Amino acid sequence: MPRKDTIILAIESSCDDTSAAILKNDSILSNLVAGQSVHSDFGGVVPELASRAHMQHILPVVDQAIKKAGVDKNDIDAVAFTKGPGLLGSLLVGVSFAKSFALAQNIPLIDVNHMYGHVLAHFIDDAGEKKPEFPFICLTVSGGHTQIVLVRDHLDMDIVGTTIDDAAGEAFDKAAKMLGFQYPGGPLVDKYAKKGNPEKFEFSKPKMDGLDYSFSGLKTSILYFLQKQEDGFIKENLEDLCASIQKTIVDILFDKLIKAVKEYDVKDVAIAGGVSANSEVRSRLQETGRKLHWNTYIPKFEYCTDNAAMIAIAGRYMYEAGMTADQSVSARARMEFKP
Ligand code: KG4
Ligand code: ZN
Repeated sequence: MPRKDTIILAIESSCDDTSAAILKNDSILSNLVAGQSVHSDFGGVVPELASRAHMQHILPVVDQAIKKAGVDKNDIDAVAFTKGPGLLGSLLVGVSFAKSFALAQNIPLIDVNHMYGHVLAHFIDDAGEKKPEFPFICLTVSGGHTQIVLVRDHLDMDIVGTTIDDAAGEAFDKAAKMLGFQYPGGPLVDKYAKKGNPEKFEFSKPKMDGLDYSFSGLKTSILYFLQKQEDGFIKENLEDLCASIQKTIVDILFDKLIKAVKEYDVKDVAIAGGVSANSEVRSRLQETGRKLHWNTYIPKFEYCTDNAAMIAIAGRYMYEAGMTADQSVSARARMEFKP
């Protein structure tokens, strides 16, 4: 008898994107993301505004995801949702919705760790031609996290390096703010860097032992450097500034990544998270991989920044392992690194 299909509805609402996806086995049938422009003038995500916008978006986004996937809601086997880490008010909207949906449909709940989702996005059917082989190292770089993860199996991974202060995405966004860009400025730094000279300006890099990162010194170094300049300097040098800042951040990221790959003696290396959408991060991974004989894995753009597809695939592995939650489950702004 053919095996029954597994259909999962996934919800992601950990920060400022409301996303819903439908997964059938390993294939994504729909993956919708409603962004929030309300934060752009504030230089960062305003938690209260984010949770309000999630409340407005969640119903239409889920409705559209189900319609676009062409499935009947009665065919959904389980609801996966982001339990944490993230903004509590934002997470609560997704968790409450998932719990109500599961109760109404009498189906299981799967509480997914957002950071596992970023890593497991590599296992979505259309994420890439080939899948990483275990064990591999995944550099997860986002607005809230910078983690070097040793992945032994789908649900067995450990953080071997992390940031002691700002995340890489935060470094991009804070530098972008100093250059006059709106939030989130990371993608704009990437855009302007394309025409700039990455060697034009030099910024300080941290001297840290081990595999941990630090980005707060870089932020201060950029700030002091800009404060010393005359009016009009940023405008005249915008492309070179973006290229030089981007190169510094990517140098810092790869210095430790190369060290980790050597230390753990792996051959497969992946990147994940919002900053893995950055063109220099992507090309540096390919370049380094060619030089050091790594097999490299870069997610599709839509699976880099926050999305429910990654929560769905993580949910599927948990569902198969019988890891479901009950109605007492709650959101966690901070949580242990385990599924
Ligand atoms: O994974 P993500 O969507 O959300 C979090 O979980 O934090 O990552 C968002 C972060 C933001 O800091 C954003 O500026 C950064 O990813 N980002 C980029 C690019 N695209 C997104 N940073 C640099 N270059 C990009 N192209
Ligand atoms: Zn994320």
